[in-house]
Amino acid sequence: MLLDLARTRRILFFGGKGGVGKTTVSAALALRCADEGRPVLLVSTDPAHNLGHLFECDIGPEPRRIAPNLDVLELDPERTVDAHLAEVGAALRRLMPERLAGEVDRHMALSRDAPGMQEAALLERIAEVVAGAGNAHQLVIFDTAPSGHTARLMALPEMMAAWTEGLLARREQADRFGDIVRRMGSDTSVSDKLFGDSPVDGPRDRNARIRHLLHRRRQRFADLREALSDASRTAFVIVLAAERLPVRETIAFHAQLERAGIDVGGLVVNKRSPADAGEFLAQRRRQEQGYLDELDRELGDVARLEIPLGPGDVVGLAAVRALGGSLGE
Ligand SMILES: Nc1ncnc2c1ncn2[C@@H]1O[C@H](COP(=O)(O)OP(=O)(O)OP(=O)(O)O)[C@@H](O)[C@H]1O
Ligand SMILES: [Mg+2]
Repeated sequence: MLLDLARTRRILFFGGKGGVGKTTVSAALALRCADEGRPVLLVSTDPAHNLGHLFECDIGPEPRRIAPNLDVLELDPERTVDAHLAEVGAALRRLMPERLAGEVDRHMALSRDAPGMQEAALLERIAEVVAGAGNAHQLVIFDTAPSGHTARLMALPEMMAAWTEGLLARREQADRFGDIVRRMGSDTSVSDKLFGDSPVDGPRDRNARIRHLLHRRRQRFADLREALSDASRTAFVIVLAAERLPVRETIAFHAQLERAGIDVGGLVVNKRSPADAGEFLAQRRRQEQGYLDELDRELGDVARLEIPLGPGDVVGLAAVRALGGSLGE
């Protein structure tokens, strides 16, 4: 199932509850596809990154080649927020009248910790990666943070687009108003008082520039939205353990993703207890079966793959490769 998805889609997201094996399974699939000769980019969107621990090396916000055909990167929301605020701050300072520079700086400093700022920054980076998908890589795999976070993130392009839309509408209203004021008379100082006194840009340039920035941003989110909801390009894989809460959460998560228009291509039931390793694990396996029956009733039509519980943690390239080998044909 995973290999089918990887062969037919260009973008895969892995999500699910904390600790179920999202990083391990997405990395195993990425390495397996890379070993088969396809260039793969594996991207962690989790602020508590663990691809570095898994592959036992330092991974940063720039793609790093860790095996033939396999590049890995960890998106860094802090750094993205800093870069974003620096860019917006510089643009605002240029666009606003000189006397408001202090105001702009205060606003930017407050924005750093505003709710949703990191998510918005993360989403911009995801949008960039998705926009570039297909340039150097045939497949891009996102390893995401535990479900609550990711579900919000997946609904965000919509919200960001609506927000940008609102700003644009206000902007255009202001432009029309500005035109009227300017036409009203020869006294240009009236419009200067209203629209600032930037030494760099006249009000018209300034408005055009703001509109351009907003349009670009709106386009970026619209492109991401389109990529996410295009089932021929993108699929979401939910990883879970066959336990009560992960199963319930998977059902809810699946519904959330559907509402966001995202195709759930498959479910991976990880760490399945073996039937032939003693009565203790056999009993656990029977209990797991009860939860999987519930999954069958609710999501019986979604493709499913089971991965057995291994004897130890999966760490290092060789162990990840071995797991990749067990993902089927
Ligand atoms: N099939 C398996 N058998 C044995 N151990 C496994 C298996 N899959 C994952 N693990 C182990 O479970 C732990 C959690 O895995 P992983 O880090 O991939 O989960 P995660 O869902 O990415 O966690 P987080 O939500 O913290 O990002 C790791 O120590 C990993 O080695
Ligand atoms: Mg992880």
